[in-house]
Amino acid sequence: PVLVVDFGAQYAQLIARRVREAHVYSEIVPHTASVEQMLAKDPAAIILSGGPSSVYAEGAPSVDPALFEAEVPVLGICYGFQAMAQALGGTVAHTGSREYGGTHVDVPDAGQLLTGSPTEQSVWMSHGDAVHAAPEGFDVLATSTGSPVAAFENRSRRLYGMQWHPEVKHSPLGQHALENFLYRGAGLTADWTAGNVVAEQVERVRQQVGDARVICGLSGGVDSAVAAALVQRAVGDQLTCVFVDHGLLRAGEAEQVETDFVAATGVQLKVVDAREQFLVALAGVTDPETKRKIIGREFIRTFEAAAREVVAEGGDHGEEVRFLVQGTLYPDVVESGGGEGAANIKSHHNVGGLPDDLQFELVEPLRTLFKDEVRAVGLELGLPDAIVWRQPFPGPGLGIRIIGEVTAERLEVLRAADAIAREELTRAGLDRQIWQCPVVLLADVRSVGVQGDGRTYGHPVVLRPVSSEDAMTADWSRVPYEVLATISTRITNEVPEVNRVALDVTSKPPGTIEWE
Ligand code: XMP
Repeated sequence: PVLVVDFGAQYAQLIARRVREAHVYSEIVPHTASVEQMLAKDPAAIILSGGPSSVYAEGAPSVDPALFEAEVPVLGICYGFQAMAQALGGTVAHTGSREYGGTHVDVPDAGQLLTGSPTEQSVWMSHGDAVHAAPEGFDVLATSTGSPVAAFENRSRRLYGMQWHPEVKHSPLGQHALENFLYRGAGLTADWTAGNVVAEQVERVRQQVGDARVICGLSGGVDSAVAAALVQRAVGDQLTCVFVDHGLLRAGEAEQVETDFVAATGVQLKVVDAREQFLVALAGVTDPETKRKIIGREFIRTFEAAAREVVAEGGDHGEEVRFLVQGTLYPDVVESGGGEGAANIKSHHNVGGLPDDLQFELVEPLRTLFKDEVRAVGLELGLPDAIVWRQPFPGPGLGIRIIGEVTAERLEVLRAADAIAREELTRAGLDRQIWQCPVVLLADVRSVGVQGDGRTYGHPVVLRPVSSEDAMTADWSRVPYEVLATISTRITNEVPEVNRVALDVTSKPPGTIEWE
């Protein structure tokens, strides 16, 4: 892999993604990893990321000079560039003036790193210190007002660095420079593709699972669907998928899993109809956290019972189910410390946590992937667009989008309104711009309206379209008025219980995406 050394800012994940966009596999390691630990991963190249520190700050992370003796190509970016300059004997100084934002650089000598770049360009900078003298043996490629040395390289040692951030879109030629490093500097080839990921993961899953039995809980979300499809590709009928229909799903969702998903993958599916059970458990409950706990608890009970049935049914692949598939993604792995191969189950992907007495080993074929890569793998596996491009949907489902008690009638109302909103957003081609658009039913609120020549006394629904990169923060989406108008007209015409449509214009923070 190409290792991206994380110096503690937001940049490492972005760099890792950009490297992968160049079809080269990358992984993130913390800056506390020793040179031996990094070399143990047999890196094809190493990228030192930017970070929030000044190289002068007390306790600022430094780079072990031994890294540069390992004959692995290295690219330092921003803080990583300065730390590299310092470790190799160059000078870094406080300039007193910060360069922040779009900055002009002159490129007197493109060298290898900036091959194909014009002699002047605009780049994105964010730094207070600057490299004043390059280490011996290094060519200075670029300069700016605040950075006498803004980029350098030592071609024979395959060491490169730049003060600006090539990974952000505000450096228009940034990706080009990164690719110069990867392809020219490090001599790598662009062969990391969805097809190769599938082949590699299929092989891994086969090795891990052998001829044992595996189960997977399908939530209807993208991640569990793609994970299941991959494992099915690897071990076929050793896999049984369990789909719990808790009645809190969107319109058409159960059918999509039961027919489209099965048709596309040939997966062995066990559907549990638990709609009545969930409604009974939720009767009279209005507190959001209580709802979540009840839904989580019932889900686990149902899933557990289904798993026991799969075990009892035995079949060709032995009595025991040893493995559970989870759709864990790379950002979760990085955020939880990046540990390798967690052994026992800690928490179910979508809901609370499975009890300790149900011990499975985890199969996590998406552990190395970002969300957009999961989608590419899903398409590669032949899953339909409707599954691959679906909006994120919370485990507790529509249960936390009905403000008030959850009843069968209210679920029908919300399902109908939600289906219209989704249909119109898709028709307007907005699916890939919008992260998700919850529709929320304010079931205990009523307002007066007029329809035809009659007075109505119905409920409002709230549209909550948001754009986001990762759901940690979000902004409300500026959906065109015409689209909002169509959604509003259709909902109030086609769903008799709803007589008002409101728009949520709150960012996150302070508002969360879901209302409960
Ligand atoms: P919030 O409401 O916290 O939601 O801004 C962030 C993202 O997480 C989804 N979400 C959940 N997903 N189980 C899930 O699997 C849950 O209990 C849950 N609650 C919220 C939400 O849809 C959004 O994408």
